[in-house]
Amino acid sequence: NNEDLTERFRPEEVKKPPLQHIAFIMDGNGRWAKAHGLPREAGHKEGAEVFRKIIRYCGNAYDIPIITVYAFSTENWKRPKHEVFALMTLLYNYLGTCVQEMMDERVHFRVIGEKSAFSDKLRRRIDEVEEITRNNPRLLNVALNYGGRDEIVHAVNKLIAEGKKTVTAEDISRSIYTGDCPDPDLIVRTSGEIRTSNFLVWQSAYSEYYFTDTLWPDMTSKDVDEAIAAYLSRKRRYGGI
Ligand code: FPP
Repeated sequence: NNEDLTERFRPEEVKKPPLQHIAFIMDGNGRWAKAHGLPREAGHKEGAEVFRKIIRYCGNAYDIPIITVYAFSTENWKRPKHEVFALMTLLYNYLGTCVQEMMDERVHFRVIGEKSAFSDKLRRRIDEVEEITRNNPRLLNVALNYGGRDEIVHAVNKLIAEGKKTVTAEDISRSIYTGDCPDPDLIVRTSGEIRTSNFLVWQSAYSEYYFTDTLWPDMTSKDVDEAIAAYLSRKRRYGGI
């Protein structure tokens, strides 16, 4: 996937953001690799490149202020050791090279998920990038060791620790990892799988979903355009009429 997604960027075309918060379930790296006769790790490597481009495109072409991506779930630890290691290495290396990009694109990089499971080295690097980018106006939430049910359980336990005996939906909404974000307007899942896989369980109650057969490493700006066009054609009623 050699498309340079910045090529399609025409500053004069950038309008008001069509939505405030978009999320991606980046699925299909393994199948992409298999289809190209490559090891799964090569699929993740390509997936990471595409991730960079898609983030840039969503910012440059649509000025979307909040992006959330699912990069590693609480269940992904079950994968073979070498694949988990490859993903951690990819993440570590990415964190070492992404700062300039984040600053240029004015993106605040933030991890959502339970960071304590990661090595000290990786965690320190995450903390550094979060700290350096923290005043940037756009937000990129990267879900790592993330599980939607875990997130709700954590939030409720936090509220109990604060002394609450009963909790409201508003309490939970402000205590989850994305407590400072509006709920995602649109969640895009690639690779033809039609399920939500424990992603943004609380936040997605009224989100629109867009599913595409495109494998994540094959994602292009056109796929993003199509997802956003589909979103704009829907009528969101939030249970009303
Ligand atoms: C799902 O594809 C993808 C993942 C479990 C990893 C997602 C990670 C990336 C796209 C890289 C992100 C990198 C950074 C630096 C944030 P799969 O392996 O489940 O594919 P399959 O279903 O075809 O096997």
